[in-house]
Amino acid sequence: MALDPARERLIRRLPKVELHLHIEGTLEPEMMFSLAAKHGVTLPYRSVEEVRAAYNFHDLQSFLDLYYAGCDVLRDRRDFYALAMAYFTRAHADNVVHAELFFDPQTHTARGIAMETIIGGLRDAMADARTRYDISSELILCFLRHLSEEAAFETLEQALPFKDQFIAVGLDSGERGNPPSKFERVFKHAKEIGLRTVAHAGEEGPAAYIREALDLLFVERIDHGVRCDEEPALVDELVKKQIALTVCPLSNLKLCVVKDLRDHNFAKLLRKGVAVTINSDDPAYFGGYIGENFRQTAAALDLTPAEIITVAENAVHASFMSSAQKLSLTSAIQLEGQRA
Ligand code: ADE
Ligand code: ZN
Repeated sequence: MALDPARERLIRRLPKVELHLHIEGTLEPEMMFSLAAKHGVTLPYRSVEEVRAAYNFHDLQSFLDLYYAGCDVLRDRRDFYALAMAYFTRAHADNVVHAELFFDPQTHTARGIAMETIIGGLRDAMADARTRYDISSELILCFLRHLSEEAAFETLEQALPFKDQFIAVGLDSGERGNPPSKFERVFKHAKEIGLRTVAHAGEEGPAAYIREALDLLFVERIDHGVRCDEEPALVDELVKKQIALTVCPLSNLKLCVVKDLRDHNFAKLLRKGVAVTINSDDPAYFGGYIGENFRQTAAALDLTPAEIITVAENAVHASFMSSAQKLSLTSAIQLEGQRA
């Protein structure tokens, strides 16, 4: 379904906030090849086209296997800088003005990369994105849920010298069989030392995992969360408490969470009053950055201009920005709405 020029223009002009973006998931095949050449890494592909052709996933795990393998080319501080800077350049083209980036330290520390290299490279790019594009950003340190609680505690310990350089902890990787409850104690500790919390839940895992993330990890928003509608009382609670879902429609399509974007429950949740937002997850792997996620979702689900604006506002409210920044951004979004 094509998008009419008015909604196309509105989406292009809207200032956007991205809340669900794995920085390692922005590694485009071209950069994968250039970093592989730089470090003398042999990739199991002959060309960029062959890499892209391999991006045919049937579930989350089939994607994660390639995603973790791709990370092997990220080795020094300049690699992490280049990765994040390429994302910010792309995000700026989509009029992103604030982004909260997930990073997976365990994927790198397991290969002998120092925490300082990872966070240092990302922070260098965040500083440049601020001066070059006026994009503000934050980092969210994610624990890999297929690994142990002990490994998560160890990772948090390693990150402590950099505690003022990330705002929150998150939880990602293979969801099935790795419930939030496994990380209850590490999230409690993270909160005690002043970090904010989010978690992936209800992407492939059941609605019960969303409940656990809320009741045991005390998260401020849920990443994905699309399976919440399996429990109507949970949907009511999300509405009542205005707990945002960071939905990633093209990711859900690529990982077969939905067969067709027209079957996605995004619009149903939005119309029930759930604070849904649109994000790109791992755009290098899923065929679209945030603008493309907005366009395809609006077209497939026939979102009205007012609904598109509500989605953009939801992301502002759900972000970790200051109240002043939220206020000024909300006004900027409303101004675009009046122009539409
Ligand atoms: N890591 C990167 N992308 C992810 C996703 N969509 N779900 C869980 N873990 C991830
Ligand atoms: Zn994700």
